[in-house]
Amino acid sequence: MTAPEGRVFSGIQPSGEIHVGNYLGAVKKWVELTATHDCIYCVVDDHAMTQDFDPALLPRLTFDAVLTTMACGLDPSRCTIFVQSHVPEHTELCWLFNTVTPLGSLFRMTQFKEKSRNALHKALAFEGESRSAAMHQLRNAGDGAVKMALEIEPLLAEIHPEGETDPAVAARLNDALGNLMQHLQVGLGVSDASTGLFDYPVLMAADILLYKAELVPVGEDQEQHLQLAREVAERFNKRFCEVFPMARRIPGEAPRILGLDGRRKMSKSLGNHIGVLDPSDVVEKKLAQAFTDPQRQRRRDPGRPEMCNVFTLHGHFTPAEKRDELAAGCRSAGIGCFDCKKVLAAGVNAELAPIREQAARLAQRPDEVLSALDRGRERCGTIAAATMDEVRGAMGIGRAALATRGGRGSQKS
Ligand code: AMP
Ligand code: TRP
Repeated sequence: MTAPEGRVFSGIQPSGEIHVGNYLGAVKKWVELTATHDCIYCVVDDHAMTQDFDPALLPRLTFDAVLTTMACGLDPSRCTIFVQSHVPEHTELCWLFNTVTPLGSLFRMTQFKEKSRNALHKALAFEGESRSAAMHQLRNAGDGAVKMALEIEPLLAEIHPEGETDPAVAARLNDALGNLMQHLQVGLGVSDASTGLFDYPVLMAADILLYKAELVPVGEDQEQHLQLAREVAERFNKRFCEVFPMARRIPGEAPRILGLDGRRKMSKSLGNHIGVLDPSDVVEKKLAQAFTDPQRQRRRDPGRPEMCNVFTLHGHFTPAEKRDELAAGCRSAGIGCFDCKKVLAAGVNAELAPIREQAARLAQRPDEVLSALDRGRERCGTIAAATMDEVRGAMGIGRAALATRGGRGSQKS
């Protein structure tokens, strides 16, 4: 049932419970698209390994992520669901894409910059050995960087791009810049981040392009990664042969849901989330503590719904008429935040109740989940094998290429 508009592919990391941000930013859209498109959805366990993970817990997290997306409405008879590591071609294609991806493109990725800094931030946040080690590291890096910068300045004066420059001076400048970069990497936390974290976006490009998918329902935070996937596809197509389409993002119901702190993106790692499987009393308790309009300190202060994250959430869970009533009550201080949050909790629970029920049902029947994954692996394995035949042929590797020794399907230029 390949729809005329192309295939849909998306993924989610098994790095913790699926939350309302994932649901509104992506998964709800995933379910919608299964009515009209050929959809492939993946739990990306290889990606989850790019940050701290426990091999003893990973299988449980992976299973739970599949179960939860099914509970959210993914019906395996209407779409394909599988686990990334069950189809090894993902990592093979990632390697081949590595060879056409400039380092500069990866250094620009904001998610890498944020995540690689986290380890250093964490070390600095807690008293003890790791903090003093991090301080030492930073101090040395800073000293080194200043020294290097001082060496660079006089060399610059001797470089004349158009005129006479001693090549030995240029080589010294090159070395000094290289050394400076090494010192800066420590400060940026980059030197301690894993190569896998750096390569994350290339693996994501491989996920999408292995299936030649054109439509990718993800939150706004993934836009830059999708741009990289297009860049990789374009470089490959130009250098070898036209194999890959240009994938584009399909927005979910909300581009970016804020967490209960009302400031940062809702995220598993920040602990500011509502899990889609949270019991109703937990949802109520979490919402009762959610931040609202900071100017509304007391019950009698009038509020500004447009400045309030709780009100934004009403946009997804409360009917429009009731919402207008709440907004008016907030502006006139006719109602308090407590009442407003109660209405929101009721709306959230109404939407999540069937998901919780379905999850409980599936938990009783793990075979249903496992057999869906087996079917997914089989279908995806077939598609992946066909794409890899094309890719290996175009790049001049693999057994078939050896048999013809480049006689057929050799590279363009
Ligand atoms: P992840 O949990 O990072 O694997 O994200 C799974 C999907 O949820 C991706 O499409 C993300 O873009 C999306 N997503 C994650 N957090 C949010 C959020 N706070 N708001 C909207 N979308 C999100
Ligand atoms: N990087 C995505 C996220 O953190 C998950 C992901 C991995 C993905 N591979 C993908 C999403 C391919 C869409 C398509 O949310």
